[in-house]
Formats: sequence, structure tokens, C-alpha cells
Amino acid sequence: MPEPTGDHHYAADLDELEGTDRLLTEVNGLEVAVFRVEDDLYAVSNYCVHQGGPACEGRVSGILTVDDEGELIYDRNGEIVSCPWHGWEFDIRTGEHLANPRYRLPTFDVLVHDGEIYIEW
Ligand code: FES
Repeated sequence: MPEPTGDHHYAADLDELEGTDRLLTEVNGLEVAVFRVEDDLYAVSNYCVHQGGPACEGRVSGILTVDDEGELIYDRNGEIVSCPWHGWEFDIRTGEHLANPRYRLPTFDVLVHDGEIYIEW
């Protein structure tokens, strides 16, 4: 199991994520959200690239898409966060805006060590 280095900043204890899908923390003066998506953790800047809203404090959901047979399906539940100010939707795993990946929330690597969450900066 890798150990935290000088590039890792303590974010929270892992058990703080119990019963919730995200927690907010601060690293180097920037608000960062740590999301749990299935069994993985993702750290995403909480500063919206549209107009600076708290992008990671909005609704977490999935997307409507079309399957191989052309049927409309609800997919990727828990992988999308919508900024509460104007509804821009971002992929939690990559930080990319769903409609235009040119817009992207910065993301950070996450390390879990001894029950503690660290964000690499
Ligand atoms: S500030 Fe986030 S969608 Fe406008």
C-alpha cells in the first residue's frame, strides 16, 4: 500500500464518507469534494468553470442515454454532478462537462492510507 508523501494532503478520515456520497474539504485554499463512486474515490474542484459556483454541491445523478437497441435508458447513476447555480453537468470521474469536455473541473488523485483520505497536489 503506497504511503503518503509530501505531495499528499490529508482530506478526511475514510469513515466520514459513511452514509454519504461526498464530503467537502480544503486543500491549499481550494475547496475540493471527495466523491465515492461505487468503490472508488474521486477528488474534484468545487469551483465551477462556468461562473464559479459550488459545482460539487449539486445533485448527483446519472444520464439518459440510448442503448445498443435504440432504447432510452438511465445509465451511470452516481457518476454525474450538476452545479446548483445553472445546472452544468460534470462527469465525477474525469471532471469533464458532459456536453463539452473542453470545460473541465480540475481533478486530483486520491490516496487512501490507514483509513485516511489524502489528495495529491
Ligand atoms: S456557475 Fe456552475 S453552472 Fe453556472
